[in-house]
Amino acid sequence: MIQINEIYKSFKDLEVLKGISFDVHEGEIVTVIGPSGSGKSTLLRCINHLEEPQSGSICFDGEEFRYGSMDKKEIWRLRQKSSMVFQNYNLFQHRTVLENITDPLIHVQGMDKQEAEQTALALLEKVGLSEKAPSYPRKLSGGQQQRVGIARAMAVKPKVILFDEPTSSLDPELVKEVLYVIKELADHKQTMIIVTHEMHFARLISDKVLFLDDGKIAEQGSAEEIFDHPQSARLKSFLEVINLDKF
Ligand SMILES: Nc1ncnc2c1ncn2[C@@H]1O[C@H](COP(=O)(O)OP(=O)(O)OP(=O)(O)O)[C@@H](O)[C@H]1O
Ligand SMILES: [Mg+2]
Repeated sequence: MIQINEIYKSFKDLEVLKGISFDVHEGEIVTVIGPSGSGKSTLLRCINHLEEPQSGSICFDGEEFRYGSMDKKEIWRLRQKSSMVFQNYNLFQHRTVLENITDPLIHVQGMDKQEAEQTALALLEKVGLSEKAPSYPRKLSGGQQQRVGIARAMAVKPKVILFDEPTSSLDPELVKEVLYVIKELADHKQTMIIVTHEMHFARLISDKVLFLDDGKIAEQGSAEEIFDHPQSARLKSFLEVINLDKF
């Protein structure tokens, strides 16, 4: 069980997150939707301490991390518990697919090379890319690169995987293969927080949906509550615009 408490984040005078709190249960999929600029990416980056919030905390099964006062060791421990999948994959282009997964296992986790390679190969098999292990990322399609990104995030066996619009850099025909891998993870009860504009996917996969507006959770509920019975005027108009965009 993960509890996120009262995260506040400003960039100079700009207050971006204005007290965000929510719980994620083990195996739950939480999706975060909301207008551009509402703070979705900032929220994920704060959770993983890629940005430092001014205040707030996150608690994993009773182990609390307080933002604003974490030392390097704590940040490292936090990142063992939460790993991030980026919109633009963030793979090292001069390292092979296999090395992109083994490097952090060897250099950050201190795993020996042979064990790291076995771990990486097993993960590549899970995302359907065993045969790409010796290739360099630039030889892979966007969808394949993102699947490597997902395998890399899984490698530390995190409590939660954070996805920031994992399909938004992909051509439509490649979106499916990445969503399929995420769906597989969901079927295996991997806890995830996913920022997405794929509303059909969010509806299909979410146990809970958060609607972020202007740095606050304006509404939250099950997929059915959020998509079929939105309460606030703000969410209703957001969903209307999203639906109009499709046609
Ligand atoms: N490093 C930064 N420095 C200053 N301002 C920032 C920084 N990162 C984000 N912001 C600002 O914070 C606000 C929220 O940005 P964020 O990227 O979290 O939005 P978002 O909801 O992810 O939007 P999108 O749907 O377009 O990805 C924006 O006004 C943005 O300009
Ligand atoms: Mg964003």
